[in-house]
Amino acid sequence: MNLAMVGTGYVGLVTGTCFAETGNHVICVDNDPKKLDKLNQAELTIYEPGLDTLFYRNIAKKRLTFTGDLRAAVLNSEIIFLCLPTPQDQDGSADLRFVFGVAHDLGKILKEAGSKNYKIIVNKSTAPVGTWEAIAEVIKDEGASNYDVVSNPEFLREGFAVEDFMRPDRIVVGSASKAALEKMKTLYEPFVRQGNPIIEMDPASAELTKYASNCYLAMRITYMNELANLCEKVGANVDLVRIGMGTDSRIGKRFLFAGIGYGGSCFPKDVSALIRTSVEHDAGLKIMTAVEQVNRERKAVLIKRILSHFHNDLKGKQFTVWGLAFKPNTDDMREAPSVVIIKKLLELGARVVAYDPVAMENAKFYLQDTITYAEDEYAALKNSDALVIVTEWNEFRNPDFDLLKSSLKQPVIFDGRNIFELEKMRELNFTYYSIGRKPTSSQNY
Ligand SMILES: NC(=O)c1ccc[n+]([C@@H]2O[C@H](COP(=O)([O-])OP(=O)(O)OC[C@H]3O[C@@H](n4cnc5c(N)ncnc54)[C@H](O)[C@@H]3O)[C@@H](O)[C@H]2O)c1
Repeated sequence: MNLAMVGTGYVGLVTGTCFAETGNHVICVDNDPKKLDKLNQAELTIYEPGLDTLFYRNIAKKRLTFTGDLRAAVLNSEIIFLCLPTPQDQDGSADLRFVFGVAHDLGKILKEAGSKNYKIIVNKSTAPVGTWEAIAEVIKDEGASNYDVVSNPEFLREGFAVEDFMRPDRIVVGSASKAALEKMKTLYEPFVRQGNPIIEMDPASAELTKYASNCYLAMRITYMNELANLCEKVGANVDLVRIGMGTDSRIGKRFLFAGIGYGGSCFPKDVSALIRTSVEHDAGLKIMTAVEQVNRERKAVLIKRILSHFHNDLKGKQFTVWGLAFKPNTDDMREAPSVVIIKKLLELGARVVAYDPVAMENAKFYLQDTITYAEDEYAALKNSDALVIVTEWNEFRNPDFDLLKSSLKQPVIFDGRNIFELEKMRELNFTYYSIGRKPTSSQNY
């Protein structure tokens, strides 16, 4: 099939590349000239494990191309995917400016294409219930006919995006049109050969499924974060509680890790947008309001511990931060807890030296030259008063502890991700603060 991706970011680029991999011809559209320059020189614009091989292969096969010309891409394609940003608006709702802006352009182009050219418009952007209908209206108002709109929310995880796209747990497609649903099933067939379902539903349910899923996951994390607070008060270990709970098949093992709060480009804005939708429809989701508030407060948990250890005086102290990306295996810095923590440390008079395997370039957009960016994790440690672990990259999990200890001024670690065993840290004589577990020194937090 001939496909167009409108918006070539994390979702558009992965989706476009994976569809090209199954033999489709994909034109990726973007309005960022710098991004297009890079892509047209076969340079990847995001870090995503496994994407490079597919990207280079499909460019070489001429199945994957990039353009700024929306009109040409749309006229050449049977299915047009919207993979556009839906950021948080000032009132907490999803800002649909990008989606509707493109919908207007699509309406004009489809009018020009004429009524003989049937097109399917697929919204992959996370957007509130009713967006599909509003997109259809906007296109119609521009004078277009002979098109259907489908809601096909995306569930890929950054860091595992290729794997998730190639072998999804399920695919959700919502449309009122049988013809559009059939076409979508044909397109997705190669990805569900192991029997995972393509779930057809009405478009409103498809749109809500995406929010319901993300918010449920945000809620699980937040529950564990609050439980971690209780563990600290009563002397329990949240990691043992997690394993005890997670082995119950009704609960499951994933998304139960306590930490320093969820971040990223999706959970914070999706929680906020669902709250907004529920308020608008007088169907208050009180539980999500609590999740949002707890998560906001959560970002302070490490800072409180650091302040308490250093007797409320961080002036002139230097901290090493390991991990900047909002989670491992991505270079995405959107809503990364590291930014909040680092800005607070700087505000309190400390200096920060940071290291992240892939996110340092993107971090510069948020932190500029207010911190020092180190060449590697050990160079980052020199002369620091403590190590602060913010992102649980695998390469931090088994470090050279002797080198770590000798590089720091004092062997003090504040771990926001519980990546080390308590027993080991005790043996190695580190003062080790983690989440929902007793610190390994006599200091209280
Ligand atoms: N990132 C994820 O992990 C993820 C997962 C599932 C769903 N989603 C949802 O998918 C959508 C896209 O997310 P993303 O992370 O890929 O965003 P992104 O910011 O990485 O990419 C969006 C792209 O759209 C481009 N763009 C903006 N306006 C445009 C226009 N008028 N014409 C052409 N291109 C335009 C931008 O330049 C950018 O490259 C959002 O609604 C998001 O909530 C994201």
